[in-house]
Amino acid sequence: MPDPRRFPEECPVTSTGLPESLITTLPGSSYTDPEIFAQEQEHIFEAMWFCAVRSADLARSGVFRTVQVGRESILVTRARDNSVRAFFNVCRHRGAKLCTAEAGEVKRAFQCPYHAWTYDLTGKLVAAPNLTKMPDVGRTEYGLAAVATHEWLGYVWVCLAENPPPFDEVVRDVVARLGDTKSIERYGIEDLDLGRRIVYDVKANWKLIVENFMECYHCATIHPELTEVLPEFADGYAAQYYVGHGAEFGSEVKGFTVDGSEGLDRIPGVTEDQDRRYYAITVRPQVFVNLVPDHVVFHRMYPVAADRTIVECDWLFHKHVVESGKDVSRSVELFDRVNRQDFDACERCQPAMSSRLYAKGGVLVPSEHHIGAFHAFVQERLDAGRPR
Ligand code: FES
Ligand code: FE
Repeated sequence: MPDPRRFPEECPVTSTGLPESLITTLPGSSYTDPEIFAQEQEHIFEAMWFCAVRSADLARSGVFRTVQVGRESILVTRARDNSVRAFFNVCRHRGAKLCTAEAGEVKRAFQCPYHAWTYDLTGKLVAAPNLTKMPDVGRTEYGLAAVATHEWLGYVWVCLAENPPPFDEVVRDVVARLGDTKSIERYGIEDLDLGRRIVYDVKANWKLIVENFMECYHCATIHPELTEVLPEFADGYAAQYYVGHGAEFGSEVKGFTVDGSEGLDRIPGVTEDQDRRYYAITVRPQVFVNLVPDHVVFHRMYPVAADRTIVECDWLFHKHVVESGKDVSRSVELFDRVNRQDFDACERCQPAMSSRLYAKGGVLVPSEHHIGAFHAFVQERLDAGRPR
């Protein structure tokens, strides 16, 4: 079985700032091999807390979304008591996919289109044709299989593990890398409104997208608009390279917009020292958050194949901004361009991952060497899931 190579925990750096030895990337097969992808689905996306849907997307009881988490389709909905519920999207009778739509609304129950077994919003089997003539089918036993849920930052996170790790693990991981979660929680993301959502279908492995997000070595080459707004990015240092570091807007820049023009109302809670700054945060395994004074860009990746990842990206603003119908397009356009530039770069790399020349991978230069820690994280998860 192919085995992604191990990475050192830390990269020793000399006093000149150069690593003692060059660190190589994961080998090409890590980005193309369906078996490695299946291991990642099982031991990362199905085992960890996975950010599934925005809570506000489930506006009323009966509104639902279906999302792919690892190898499974998961149905997320709101019950009549307003609680969020998640289930395997699999009918307990003969296994038909219960909901085929990505989003929708039912009145009070989900009915399987095959033989009409009907489940209420808590997953309980409440009706089935001729069930009275089949006394051995227990209604309670054959309810939908529930999945653990937790709401944080205005999103519903799900965990498919039989014994889900405490959600604290997610928060602790953010704290370990940022020092605390105050910097992200101050933005009150759960109280913001959706200004725009764009879904990108990226023909690239999810790890290429994470690696790209983690480094800014490419910023000067592919992000002309972003480096105009954040001049220090032209030097190629990633904002998250420093713990809690926020990149400062250029002195002429008025707001985080495609042309540096005035932004929108500042988010309450953003402090003076966070004003005119940009922060980028990764929440493992599949969320990226960008924070600027007047909006938050919240990305969720849904890896669907070794060479394909759906990225759903929300631009969130102060409620007043969205309610008043203010024009958010210049704000949205900046990061939409950045996303397209980034995903083009990832798609450019993906075909070359299969090249014989990349069989042993490439190298990480000093400003990218923190990516080695991400590779170590992936490797540890796969190692932990492997039978001993
Ligand atoms: Fe769903 Fe038969 S498979 S009711
Ligand atoms: Fe980028």
